[in-house]
Amino acid sequence: MISVKKRHFLYQLGGLTFYSIANAARAGITPPQSLGPFYPSRFPLDSDSDLTFIEGEKGSAAGQITNLYGQVFYIDGSPVSGAKIEIWQCDAYGAYHHPRDGGGIDPNFQGYGKTIADDEGRYRFKTIKPVAYPGRAPHIHLRVLTSSKELTTQIYVQGNPENQNDFLLNSIADKRARRSLVISFEKDPIEDSNELVAFFNPVLG
Ligand SMILES: [Fe+2]
Repeated sequence: MISVKKRHFLYQLGGLTFYSIANAARAGITPPQSLGPFYPSRFPLDSDSDLTFIEGEKGSAAGQITNLYGQVFYIDGSPVSGAKIEIWQCDAYGAYHHPRDGGGIDPNFQGYGKTIADDEGRYRFKTIKPVAYPGRAPHIHLRVLTSSKELTTQIYVQGNPENQNDFLLNSIADKRARRSLVISFEKDPIEDSNELVAFFNPVLG
């Protein structure tokens, strides 16, 4: 008998459409958040969807390895195929790989990654669970680009006490919209590994 948790996980992974339409409508349009000062000024040579490993380096990134899955939707529940998705975040030591933030500390962390959503709008990144840095709750920056739409936002960690004090997260007045940016990072219930899984489904207006 498959557990409710596993079933929920498989639904999210499979992107079953009937579930997705209800979900997109319920979640509402994903609220935008500022780009912030650390969007890459120069893209790393290796800027694929695995931020935990840099081509040519021997080690892998410090931090809690996280598989971030998601599906991009329009508000009517239809998937956004072929969307470009970018993420960027600080390394496990709280430093962005950006000249304005000292260029980063962990040489094995890619700092920025990009991918293209498949025909059903699905995407995946391998990254680390975000950590806090002074003045901010842990977050991952995310940007979705299509030929006609652009969404820039930030994803937060469910249960993190610093969320209460984060000025950017709390600048979203609508409770449901604010909550839609806060996701769980949990141990993978399917794979027997120490990696975490998280889901974020951006909804475009
Ligand atoms: Fe940030």
